[in-house]
Amino acid sequence: MVTVAPLNRDAWALRGDNVGRKIGIIGSGIVGETLANGFIKHGYQVTIGTNSSGKREGLRAKTNGRATVGTFEDAAKFGEVVVLATKGSGAEAALKLAGTAHLAGKTVIDTSNPIADTPPVNGVLQYFTPQNESLMERLQKAVPDARFVKAFSCIGNAFMVDPDFNGEKPTMFICGNDEMAKAEVRTILEQFGHDVADMGTVEGARAIEPLCILWCIPGFRGAGWTHAFKLLRK
Ligand SMILES: NC(=O)c1ccc[n+]([C@@H]2O[C@H](COP(=O)([O-])OP(=O)(O)OC[C@H]3O[C@@H](n4cnc5c(N)ncnc54)[C@H](OP(=O)(O)O)[C@@H]3O)[C@@H](O)[C@H]2O)c1
Repeated sequence: MVTVAPLNRDAWALRGDNVGRKIGIIGSGIVGETLANGFIKHGYQVTIGTNSSGKREGLRAKTNGRATVGTFEDAAKFGEVVVLATKGSGAEAALKLAGTAHLAGKTVIDTSNPIADTPPVNGVLQYFTPQNESLMERLQKAVPDARFVKAFSCIGNAFMVDPDFNGEKPTMFICGNDEMAKAEVRTILEQFGHDVADMGTVEGARAIEPLCILWCIPGFRGAGWTHAFKLLRK
């Protein structure tokens, strides 16, 4: 019998496919659920976490029993790659609940946006971060050993996995300080049908997070929610 040694994270990135890889999802909302089903569809193993025990049964049903459902900590422990999909104002607390030690050295895909609890102004969402600071910078400072990569934050959940825009791939803007982590996320995003645009280091999140404000304006103004961004290049 041939024994195959588990691949380390560098080898995964070099191999360029992630089938069978373990994903931990911190967050039980529509983004967590959508990405859980997307990762399962693309061959990954998924544990999705909620800290509300009342949501667990529903999450099992929404992932057709194919994802393991646990706490934030269970998801963080399980994931070789971890997805953060919580309300922006709860993101730091969620990372603490997940146990920051379980995130050390791991790629953490940050989908969150710093949306304030105050209502939109004429369809323009309000943020709790100032323009020269982003939520992901706060998270990277709070958990310096984790390798945060911003992704999935600038598109509606309906288009996060295998988006269908008549053959045109939407652009997913990403950023983060760790090149290997970004390479891992690029592989995932390309598998999920996105055109990836790398906006550099963590400070790039100052520009990426507000794209959510822009994306939501047509929706709030009655023009629908079925659009995505495309970066044209020459
Ligand atoms: N909805 C979209 O289409 C979309 C698109 C792009 C980006 N995003 C961003 O993705 C993130 C997730 O969005 P969502 O719509 O799926 O869900 P959400 O309602 O924004 O977040 C739900 C999750 O946040 C957790 N949570 C809420 N308050 C918390 C707190 N104070 N401390 C710790 N955890 C807390 C909940 O925990 P429990 O599980 O314990 O209840 C739950 O897991 C958001 O930051 C959003 O801006 C959303």
